[in-house]
Amino acid sequence: MGRLNGKVAIITGAGSGLGRADAEAMAREGAKLVVTDLNEAAVQETAARINKTAPGTAHAMKHDVSNEQQWLAVLAEAKSRFGGLHVLVNNAGVVRIVNPETCTIEDFRFHMTVMAEGTFIGCKHAIPVMAASGGGSIINMCSTATHLGYSVYFAYAAAKGAIRSMSKSIAMYCQERKLNIRCNTVHPGAIETNMVANASKELGFDMSVLRETPFGLGKPEDIGNVVAFLASDESRFVNGAEIMVDNGCIVQ
Ligand SMILES: NC(=O)c1ccc[n+]([C@@H]2O[C@H](COP(=O)([O-])OP(=O)(O)OC[C@H]3O[C@@H](n4cnc5c(N)ncnc54)[C@H](O)[C@@H]3O)[C@@H](O)[C@H]2O)c1
Repeated sequence: MGRLNGKVAIITGAGSGLGRADAEAMAREGAKLVVTDLNEAAVQETAARINKTAPGTAHAMKHDVSNEQQWLAVLAEAKSRFGGLHVLVNNAGVVRIVNPETCTIEDFRFHMTVMAEGTFIGCKHAIPVMAASGGGSIINMCSTATHLGYSVYFAYAAAKGAIRSMSKSIAMYCQERKLNIRCNTVHPGAIETNMVANASKELGFDMSVLRETPFGLGKPEDIGNVVAFLASDESRFVNGAEIMVDNGCIVQ
């Protein structure tokens, strides 16, 4: 009996890295999944990998998280295909290397649109669907950038900070209305994904160097396992929390 049997989840940015690992961990625990990404071929591959061992588990959709109409289509698909929604993982993310002086208005808005607005729109429209399904768990992907100063991730940190704050308001909103919907944030340290490989390259070093730091370089499944726990009823008393998955980085 999987820990997520009978649950339906939407995972954004599931074509790669942490989103794919979240999907694989949740599929192993018995959830039905709508996996979405801007990169259609990549998210189709995620669904194919999952369906190979558990046919009919994952449905892939092309989805730009900053597009409200596309969000409505994704939610409608979860309802019509799998009968409702219990878990939303707002994972899609982008990063550009910009500091407070080099950051353009366009850079700033790009991060805010994809991450802060994308998460907001997803939560806004998922809440009534989850409530009608008996409740659920919203998991919003943040970063250690919400707690530490990273000059070169200036706009990224601003957008993640917005997600951190809105998640607490969402948790309280749902609690006040007794919707049985929890909302938590996950804050990964450095994890081995395309995002970190590309950012490291742009900053002039190889991602493997991060393995030599005191906190090391995590694997995508290190996040997937935590997300599966937050999606499950085992975390029923965890709400409005910030879960650091950084091997102690922010307490250094
Ligand atoms: N890898 C890390 O070390 C790390 C650390 C902290 C936080 N995070 C966060 O985890 C999440 C996943 O990151 P990752 O490392 O797996 O990166 P990644 O680049 O491997 O994956 C991000 C995915 O998001 C998708 N995406 C980008 N813009 C989108 C949009 N507008 N709509 C829908 N999908 C879109 C991309 O196509 C990609 O598949 C991000 O929110 C990131 O900020 C990652």
